[in-house]
Amino acid sequence: MEVLRVDNLTKQIGKKTIVNRVHMQVNEGEVYGFLGPNGAGKTTTIRMIVGLIQATEGSVRICGYDIGTDREKAMKMVGAIVENPETYSYLSGYKNLIHYARLAGIPNKEKRIKEVVEFVKLTDRIHDKVKTYSLGMRQRLGLAQALLGKPKLLILDEPTNGLDPEGIREFRGLVRQLADQGTAVFVSSHILKEMEAICDRIAIIKNGRIVTEQNVAKVLEGQGQKVRIKVDDIKQVETFLQQNEISYQVVDHNTMDIPMDESEVSEFVRFLALQNINLRSIETVKDSLEELFFTFTTDEEGEKKNA
Ligand SMILES: Nc1ncnc2c1ncn2[C@@H]1O[C@H](COP(=O)(O)OP(=O)(O)OP(=O)(O)O)[C@@H](O)[C@H]1O
Ligand SMILES: [Mg+2]
Repeated sequence: MEVLRVDNLTKQIGKKTIVNRVHMQVNEGEVYGFLGPNGAGKTTTIRMIVGLIQATEGSVRICGYDIGTDREKAMKMVGAIVENPETYSYLSGYKNLIHYARLAGIPNKEKRIKEVVEFVKLTDRIHDKVKTYSLGMRQRLGLAQALLGKPKLLILDEPTNGLDPEGIREFRGLVRQLADQGTAVFVSSHILKEMEAICDRIAIIKNGRIVTEQNVAKVLEGQGQKVRIKVDDIKQVETFLQQNEISYQVVDHNTMDIPMDESEVSEFVRFLALQNINLRSIETVKDSLEELFFTFTTDEEGEKKNA
């Protein structure tokens, strides 16, 4: 089932088009990554999706409800952490949740709070003041708050910003569990490795436009497999590869990538040995999202690597 549908979404501020004709669609149980460099338009897009700012053009539908015309119904379906979640730091986590549950008209407040607090593993500290919480605990409190209304769509803007590896791993586990229970999760980040581990699909936004949308499993399955070799004399190898019209990519002064299938590797190694090319190491590497990210976010005239 389609939970989020964004069509032609555009935000203009003054003469600047900050978000430019964005289309996206996220299904039940799916984790959708919204990836892009600083200033690409991620937060602006999210602010429009959750109705914090108005779109200049285009539409957002959540579970079929248009946020323009059916705002209240649409918003009932959403839980979000946008930028730093606001909390009253001199109150306990629990009191903060009570406050939000009241605002949001959550039925059976106490029971629901107990559930979300257990889910984010804050039970031990929930009656302590928020000002004594670590960053990771604050993030988890934010998540608990976003989950109070049992949202069909969870929107997280850079949720792991500043978290340590353990915190990131925990967060990933929680997101996965929510998706497995059917929640659609829309998560923005500029940290690629994280997205790779957490998302089913990703879109890359640059200068307000979606430049590509990819299925993560497919990218990682090894479309475009290649070997990475380290050699003593890279010039010698380059000459040899050029003579044989084999394409390659220089990584650094003694490392290069050569696109090839696993089945071709042993023949390639024999071929090099025949030329007396000294191999220090060889490994197969798969296209990662990181490369995809750079392919799509580096300017034509920018520092694009050798093809
Ligand atoms: N109210 C505003 N007025 C003018 N420019 C704005 C406004 N809000 C955002 N921008 C500009 O729009 C662009 C996109 O900003 P946005 O915050 O959406 O980027 P982002 O992808 O979330 O970046 P980051 O990764 O740094 O959070 C930036 O160049 C920003 O300066
Ligand atoms: Mg942002």
